[in-house]
Amino acid sequence: MLKFVHQAIRNIRTTGSVVPSSPMLAKEMTRSLRGHRGEKRVLEVGAGTGAFTSAVLLALRGHDQLDIVEMNPAFCEHLEVRLLQAFRRRHPAIKIQLHAQPIERAQLVGGYDFVVCGLPFNNFPPALTDVIFKRMLSLMRDGAELTYFEYAGLGAIRSPFVGSAGRERIRGHQAIKHATARDHRVTRHLVLANFPPAHAVRIVKRR
Ligand SMILES: C[S@@+](CC[C@H](N)C(=O)[O-])C[C@H]1O[C@@H](n2cnc3c(N)ncnc32)[C@H](O)[C@@H]1O
Repeated sequence: MLKFVHQAIRNIRTTGSVVPSSPMLAKEMTRSLRGHRGEKRVLEVGAGTGAFTSAVLLALRGHDQLDIVEMNPAFCEHLEVRLLQAFRRRHPAIKIQLHAQPIERAQLVGGYDFVVCGLPFNNFPPALTDVIFKRMLSLMRDGAELTYFEYAGLGAIRSPFVGSAGRERIRGHQAIKHATARDHRVTRHLVLANFPPAHAVRIVKRR
C-alpha cells in the first residue's frame, strides 16, 4: 500500500489513483478467467502493485501463459519480488513474463484469450486512450475478452468543474466508448466495495 501511495504521488497521471483497487474489484475483473475451461493466454496491463495480478494468478492452471505489462520500474520490481518469484517456483509449467514497458511499445505476440486492464484512462488524452484500446484489441483473438475499470460517476461529477479542455477530453473518451460499444459486445458491472466505487467493463471482441 505504501509503495503504491508513494509512486502515485510521484506519477499521478500514469498511476491515476492514490490507493490500489480492492479485492472485490479484482475478483470481478477476473471473473471470466476463473470460469474458463482449457488453456488460456492472459495479458495484464497496468498491474501496479498487483491488486489484479494476485487474482489473475489464482485463476491460472496447467500450461496457461501470462504476460504482464507495467511501465513503472518500481512497480515491476515489487511484482517480481512480492508475487512472481514465489509463484514461478510453485508452478514451473505456467509461463509468466513481465514487460517493464508501456503497452504502446511492449513486444508481445497476439492471440490472447483475456486482457485485464488497470490503466487510468480518464487521466489520458483521448488520442492515447484510442491508441491503447486499438493495441489491446489487436492483440486479442476474436471472441476474447478485455476487462477494464472506470470509477462510477466520474464524468458527471467532473464535467461542471473541468473547463472546456476537460470537457473536450470527456467527450473524446465518450466517443471512444461509443465506437467500442458499436463494434463489440460491452457489459458493465458496478462494484461498490472499492474506493471509489467502480464499474468493471467487459468487452468481448467481435471480428
Ligand atoms: C490505476 S493504477 C492500477 C494498478 C492496479 N491494477 C490496481 O488496480 O490497483 C495504473 C497502473 O498503470 C500503469 N500504466 C500507466 N500507463 C501505462 C502504459 N501506457 N503501459 C503500461 N502501464 C501503464 C501505471 O504505472 C500504474 O501502475
